[in-house]
Amino acid sequence: MKDEPHLQKLVSKIVRLPALPDNVLAIQRLIRAPDTTAETVGQAIARDQALSAQVLKLVNSGFYGFTTPVASIAHAVVLLGFGALKTLLVSTAAASLIGSAFPGLYPHSLTCARIAFILARRQGLDEPDELSAAGLLHDIGKMVLATHLPEEYEAVKKAVHERNLLFMDAETATMGVTHADLGAWLLAQWRLPAQTVEPIRRHHAFDPDAPFAERAAALHLADILARAEGVGDPGDSRIPRPDPRALAALGIGLPDIRPLMDEAFDQLTDLYSGDAAA
Ligand SMILES: [Fe+2]
Ligand SMILES: [Fe+2]
Repeated sequence: MKDEPHLQKLVSKIVRLPALPDNVLAIQRLIRAPDTTAETVGQAIARDQALSAQVLKLVNSGFYGFTTPVASIAHAVVLLGFGALKTLLVSTAAASLIGSAFPGLYPHSLTCARIAFILARRQGLDEPDELSAAGLLHDIGKMVLATHLPEEYEAVKKAVHERNLLFMDAETATMGVTHADLGAWLLAQWRLPAQTVEPIRRHHAFDPDAPFAERAAALHLADILARAEGVGDPGDSRIPRPDPRALAALGIGLPDIRPLMDEAFDQLTDLYSGDAAA
């Protein structure tokens, strides 16, 4: 990959990896153990009251499109299954890290998650809940930048404001890599599956030949529409143009965008009222 040396140079400056909390790590270990069932994992989460509360808060934040409230971890396990549960755990931990590190990024991320879910359902993509989680996590590289690379973060913000650049263009100009590379690197360290990590890596650099291109296209478009809906703050005030190859990969034309945005708008009313604290 052409950006790899820049990325290696950048991550070598990170002394300590942004860590998942101990209780999440313990449950990840349980998930990896042989013979573990979704029920066993559900019971372990349910025993941890703080973690259960966080998981249920996220499940009920609308990003999985559930229309009735999910009242218990056991219910969440049945609805989501084992695969989605692993990503949900990381998403739960990441939601509070994103919210505290980068004001405005969590509402933008949740908006992107909901739109990714709508897109996945409309276009019949596999595992819409995993794509929704990718939407929640897509800009987590900005959290890494804000919390672990303060000098680089200041330089990026300066370039955004002084040159009116998109955040990703300011990153490329000042560091040679973007938050998409940094986020994909972190999520791979956190052992998220490739179908979640690869679309995040490509969400600003769509490549029709890259792995999971259709999911990357959905995430690319969901991010742009989330910006157009104007919820939260992704760190700049410009809206990039959708890559026509991404629209083609999804089978979406420009006339489809307006009804898509209308559907998203109807599902974002709570976020417009500012009710999206992580
Ligand atoms: Fe991004
Ligand atoms: Fe974004």
